[in-house]
Amino acid sequence: MTALFSKTQLGRLDLRNRIVMAPMTRSRAGNDDEPTELMVEYYRQRASAGMIISEGIYPSADGKGYCRTPGLVSDAQVAGWRRVVDAVHAEGGTMVAQLMHCGRIAHVDNKSADSEIVAPSAIAAKGEMYTDTAGMQPFSPPRTLERDEIPAVIEAYRRSTERAYASGFDGVELHCTSGYLPAQFLSTGTNRRDDDYGGSLANRIRFPIEVLTAMASVDGADRVGFRICPGNPFNDLSDENPEETFTAFLGGVADLDLAYCHVIRLHGVELDNIALARANFPGPLIVNDSYKLAEASDVVEKGEAAAVSFARAFMANPDLVHRFEIGAELNRLNPATMYTVGPEGYTDYPTLDQT
Ligand SMILES: Cc1cc2nc3c(=O)[nH]c(=O)nc-3n(C[C@H](O)[C@H](O)[C@H](O)COP(=O)(O)O)c2cc1C
Repeated sequence: MTALFSKTQLGRLDLRNRIVMAPMTRSRAGNDDEPTELMVEYYRQRASAGMIISEGIYPSADGKGYCRTPGLVSDAQVAGWRRVVDAVHAEGGTMVAQLMHCGRIAHVDNKSADSEIVAPSAIAAKGEMYTDTAGMQPFSPPRTLERDEIPAVIEAYRRSTERAYASGFDGVELHCTSGYLPAQFLSTGTNRRDDDYGGSLANRIRFPIEVLTAMASVDGADRVGFRICPGNPFNDLSDENPEETFTAFLGGVADLDLAYCHVIRLHGVELDNIALARANFPGPLIVNDSYKLAEASDVVEKGEAAAVSFARAFMANPDLVHRFEIGAELNRLNPATMYTVGPEGYTDYPTLDQT
């Protein structure tokens, strides 16, 4: 039990315990996609986590997919994130920004008029997403990124990393799964390119490796992590051989000396994502998905992971670390308010002291 509450370091990131708050899109950003005072309060409440990973933040206007999600593009957004990170730091916490470019997982109504929906190939995702204008609507079709446009997309991630550090974030995490742009490049179902960013395995892994390299170029690789989930079918993602894809991808980033790999396990499938990450990534692992206290303690105790991340438990329990420490009951989550506007189901989950 004690290992879970002991401090550690992931690259240059200091964690006061191994209980990480997983990234969660909550759709509460302001009119200019800037963090609001409500978001400051939400993250401040959860600062006792060993590390907070922010909700997915778009690195360019083209990268926005969902309504009311924040960016790291404008000065107002930097100023808003500065207030969030200052509040977390004032409580002694550590926080990294998750950079999430949605690529084809988007709807035009959720995006600014001057932005586009781009993807490795012009294949629309099957399924629907929520819009404030008309409720659930089919994903909008994307346009193929031209070969000569790709450097600017990578540059946007680099620039956003600079902005993240200007906001005070301790590090950045690249979102490499859940059907978003890096995963679209990695996967055979979404990448039908015939240039050096598609086709062969070596070409499909090129984009996320170059993005991580660009992010690491800002202030070292030891402030940069990334999130994967080999075989993840979310958002119409499909790959002919996720084990082969991610073995190659992890091999390609192994020499970068990144701060951590954040790996999501899948249930009910043969592929063991955590074993795959451990075998192919030399640095620390943060593991995720549906961990309970006992299992989380066990994997950290055994040294199988440096830390465990929790999403839904942190959503409903701002004082999750304290509750784990004393073995207290957890608040129940209300899924109806995950993505709604305002404080309800966001900043009003009580701590133990408040109940
Ligand atoms: C409301 C909600 C929003 C999420 N948004 C993100 C996100 O922005 N980025 C991301 O990588 N994962 C996101 N996830 C996935 C979680 O980080 C996590 O992988 C998942 O909830 C499983 O962890 P858990 O069992 O601890 O909840 C989201 C999950 C939920 C419930």
